[in-house]
This record gives sequence, structure tokens and C-alpha cells, in this order.
Amino acid sequence: MITIIAAIGRNNALGKDNRLLWRLPEDLKHFKSLTENHPVVMGRKTYESIGKPLPNRTNIVVSRRENWFQEDILIVSKLKEALKFAKKIDEDVFIIGGGEIYKQTMELADRLEITFVDEDFEADTFFPNIDLKIWQKTNEEFHEKDEKNKYNFYFQTYERINKD
Ligand SMILES: NC(=O)c1ccc[n+]([C@@H]2O[C@H](COP(=O)([O-])OP(=O)(O)OC[C@H]3O[C@@H](n4cnc5c(N)ncnc54)[C@H](OP(=O)(O)O)[C@@H]3O)[C@@H](O)[C@H]2O)c1
Repeated sequence: MITIIAAIGRNNALGKDNRLLWRLPEDLKHFKSLTENHPVVMGRKTYESIGKPLPNRTNIVVSRRENWFQEDILIVSKLKEALKFAKKIDEDVFIIGGGEIYKQTMELADRLEITFVDEDFEADTFFPNIDLKIWQKTNEEFHEKDEKNKYNFYFQTYERINKD
């Protein structure tokens, strides 16, 4: 199972200046609980944005750069190889961004775990359109803003519609 996990604002906003657009501790907890102990695949820019390997997960980073090394992560020059490698480690693989990587993996994913943040943000990176002819929303959980989480948001799961 390949799962794309992303937090998106209105208009599919993902990030700006290589940073996230919000701080939602509840979403970080959700992200951790879903991805922990599974391999995570990400683009080089997302890795640099996080700044360190995510603990308790095999971090697989795709980059075409030669001679780029970092401790405690696997660097792979081809996205398909990254996924092949991840699948060897575990049957549940998570693609954690960013925009370039989501765009290239929408066709390969089985499931989307989306946190929809119900707010307008100025962004320079966007999540691809979720085509409802291809994806069916199978779960949605509303979370109202509170002292720690400044925006209303929804945890949503989409499954690929089986055409058979
Ligand atoms: N809201 C969310 O859930 C979420 C999640 C993740 C990231 N983000 C945000 O998204 C932004 C970063 O996304 P981004 O689109 O700019 O960058 P990205 O997808 O994280 O990384 C792009 C880089 O990945 C490498 N790459 C891409 N496709 C490749 C391929 N087919 N083969 C080998 N390497 C490949 C290249 O690295 P090289 O240049 O090294 O070759 C490319 O520059 C940030 O603002 C971040 O905060 C948001």
C-alpha cells in the first residue's frame, strides 16, 4: 500500500519559501501516528525543510544531486527506485512530499491521507488536484480550532476507486 500524506489549505496550498504554512500540533501527532515505523519517501527540498531525519522511520530522500550525502538517510536518484526500496522494507509506504513528489506519485498511490486546513494561505507550492472520478473520500473527521490549533481542519482519507 502506497499512501500519500499531506496537509493542504484551501486551493491546495502546501508551503511557501520551503516551509509549512501553519503550525497544527494535532496534525503533527496524526502524521507521526500514521507514519511511525514505516518508510517515508520525500523530495530533497522537503528533507531540507524538515532539517533532520524523522525518527523511527527509514527516511528515503530523492535527489538528482551528485555527491550529496547526509547521515541517517537513504538518498536515491530515481523516484521509482525509492519506492521499490521502500516496499522491500515494509508493505506500507508513505510519501510525505513535497509538491514535485506528490505530482509524480499521484498515479502510483493507493490512498491519500489529507489534512484539509480550512483557511486561505499565500503559497508557492501546491498539492495536485484530487480527481473525484479517481478518488473516493472514505473517511472525514472534523477538528475545530482551539488554543493550540489555530485553524479548523479535517482529517480525510481517499481511496482509489477500483474500476474492476
Ligand atoms: N503541507 C504538507 O503536507 C507538506 C509536505 C511536504 C512538503 N511541504 C512543503 O512543500 C515544499 C517543498 O516541495 P517542493 O515541490 O518545492 O520540493 P520537493 O518535492 O520536496 O523536492 C523537490 C526535489 O526532489 C528531487 N526530485 C524531484 N523529483 C525527482 C525525481 N523524479 N528523481 C530524483 N529526484 C527528484 C529534486 O532534488 P534535487 O534538486 O536535489 O535534485 C527536487 O529539487 C516546502 O514548502 C514544504 O514545506 C508541505
